[in-house]
Amino acid sequence: MPNHIIIKKKIPTYKKKIFVSGDKSISIRWVLFASIASGVSKAQNLLISEDVLAAINIVKKFGIKVVQRKGFFVIFGKGINGYKYKQNMTINAGNSATLGRLILGLIINCNKTIKLIGDKSLSKRDFKRVTSPLSKFGAKFKLQKNFSLPLTIQGSKKIKSIEYNEKRGSAQCKSAVMLAAMRASGTTFIKAKKSRNHTEKMMKNLNLPIKVIERKNHDLIKIRKVKKIKVINYTIPSDISSSAFFIVLTALSNNSELVIKNVNINPSRVGIITILKKMGINISFQNKKIYKGERIADIKIKSSGSIKPINCPSRLNASAIDEFLVIFLVAAKANGISYFKGLAELDKKESPRLKWGSKILSEMGIKNIATKDSIKIFGNPSLKINKKITIKNYLKDHRVFMTSVVAALSFGGLWKIHDSKAIRTSFPDFLNVISELKKQ
Ligand code: S3P
Repeated sequence: MPNHIIIKKKIPTYKKKIFVSGDKSISIRWVLFASIASGVSKAQNLLISEDVLAAINIVKKFGIKVVQRKGFFVIFGKGINGYKYKQNMTINAGNSATLGRLILGLIINCNKTIKLIGDKSLSKRDFKRVTSPLSKFGAKFKLQKNFSLPLTIQGSKKIKSIEYNEKRGSAQCKSAVMLAAMRASGTTFIKAKKSRNHTEKMMKNLNLPIKVIERKNHDLIKIRKVKKIKVINYTIPSDISSSAFFIVLTALSNNSELVIKNVNINPSRVGIITILKKMGINISFQNKKIYKGERIADIKIKSSGSIKPINCPSRLNASAIDEFLVIFLVAAKANGISYFKGLAELDKKESPRLKWGSKILSEMGIKNIATKDSIKIFGNPSLKINKKITIKNYLKDHRVFMTSVVAALSFGGLWKIHDSKAIRTSFPDFLNVISELKKQ
């Protein structure tokens, strides 16, 4: 299979029901919690992507048995202190900052020096944001000069609880501290700007000693030392971040209708729905239910004739952080100027995504003005692309690839989009779902 895709035509009208793969954030968290549970945990619909497989490989390195059976995964947890550490061992988080950052919290008490590495993209990302609070627990870290990977962690047997104020709205930083707090003597107090709360929900579901007080703009979280974790059997719901590509494709196409089954609609993740509704897109939730504290629903979307521009409130940023690239495509077709601000974090993702958003729009012929934390997009409801566009992202960002595919299928033109293999990170099934939509 070539490592690029050529798209020459817009997607024809469709009326379909689809399933997308399991939620990446929940899949990684399930692997980590199951690996320190006392006993055998099972998961169905676990996302089988490189990020989740990297998590499985790390826990296997620590001596935990993981097996894939027909339709489910099994993890044989050896208890909260069941990891076996070896001197100078190296663990590899691949492309996943979630894994790289959370695992450091989980091994805060490792009695050996452990090296953490990652791929080219992860090796450019900031790790001080987690090593700085985690070192207060008593662990020692050595990072590269620019605070990136590779790094080493030397844990401590005497982990002391801390107080931590998380101001970025980063669930990765919050969760790394929460996992370390489970090993600390005393109570850890966290004040965290709102961000996705799957770690909190999983801990509550496991009856672990956690208390969360929700305020308007932040949460107060208290965690006491954990002695034992019971097994955690989980059917992982579908990922709204993967669904986002099909939500936008449908919103931008002609007379199409789509239902995406069984998607996690945790309020800390549905920023894209709120934003697109404000832009006049027809989206609704059906068959709502609650599963292990997480909200789940089928998402129904219809093509939209006219799209309103948006001055996007920055309080929605954390809940849509992985979706802005595709949201910008909707703004490209809006009837006026859209403005997105407070987005400095976007340039700190798998690749500088604010710059990439601006680049893709410019290639499409959409005027836009980007600063280091904002973008103004001059929408054109009658946009038709008649030229050749090539997209090559040297950091092989999965979401840059998938966004470019949605742009090509929505606006026309002749596109050559490199690095198809990048989808293996989060959504290996992406191109298969596209083929399903094309079938008459
Ligand atoms: C994630 C948190 C987000 C998000 C990432 C997954 C998680 O990162 O961008 O894809 O699973 O906790 P930040 O918490 O750094 O914003």
